[in-house]
Amino acid sequence: MNQTLDLFFNHRSVRVYEKTDIPEHIKEKIFQSMLRGPTAGNGILYSVIEVKDQEVKEILAKSCDNQPFIAKAPLVLLVSADYQRWYDYFMMFNVEQFCEKEEIPMEKPKEGDLVIALCDAIIAAQTAAIAAESFGIGSCFIGDILEKCEIHRKLFNLPQYVFPICLLCLGYPTEQQKNRELTSRFDEKFIFSKNKYERLNEEDLKEMFEDRQKQAFGDKEEIQGCKNYAELTYKQRFGADFMKERRRSVKKMIEIWNN
Ligand SMILES: Cc1cc2nc3c(=O)[nH]c(=O)nc-3n(C[C@H](O)[C@H](O)[C@H](O)COP(=O)(O)O)c2cc1C
Repeated sequence: MNQTLDLFFNHRSVRVYEKTDIPEHIKEKIFQSMLRGPTAGNGILYSVIEVKDQEVKEILAKSCDNQPFIAKAPLVLLVSADYQRWYDYFMMFNVEQFCEKEEIPMEKPKEGDLVIALCDAIIAAQTAAIAAESFGIGSCFIGDILEKCEIHRKLFNLPQYVFPICLLCLGYPTEQQKNRELTSRFDEKFIFSKNKYERLNEEDLKEMFEDRQKQAFGDKEEIQGCKNYAELTYKQRFGADFMKERRRSVKKMIEIWNN
């Protein structure tokens, strides 16, 4: 093993933090690591907002599906896909007129540009998480930043071509969090394949979810009117209100981007 692999194999999301602040020089190293990550065409199609304002953290703790630990995280970063910088740069140099002269169609950023910028942003966020872990700092991604886009876009003054994708909470883990049991993962054979996609059959799917079914149900035949893990996770997660809100909010943000 080596230190990098140790870090990966011991990863756990951290949701309870010591009150200790993250020193500026360590923060700086985290930011520098993000910036060194791979980025499509070296375009750096993302931006990062450090949420310093406690009041804003409190708002996020509520708006992101009521997760109070967000307000207690010493460092909160909002990572967004960002095409605004490039678009404004093109506008500044009248690229539109240039295109007309050259008979090149000048297209506004569309879905393809959004997806590639999201790749950049997510890579940057995970790089921050890993860099932080190398300093013994824990983190937790908050997917609920995708909800309530009206509130979040206004809160951070986000223009059209900035799409918030990750809220990352960081801080030194408490002893309890350091020693928390690692979460399980699906067996490798269900995730990795060679050359072609392997669609799982019913047997595979049963086997893949066997541990989760056991963990959730134990000897019980029914939980909350659900007879298996599929029904239970659909009820609790995929069909839950926060997921409906996420779908609505993301659709709206894509419309804003495409407008
Ligand atoms: C895109 C994304 C969104 C997530 N959103 C949340 C969240 O809103 N709240 C939370 O407590 N954890 C969130 N997590 C953390 C996951 O719940 C966690 O990674 C998963 O349960 C596996 O646990 P582990 O990271 O401790 O191994 C998120 C993780 C990812 C990658």
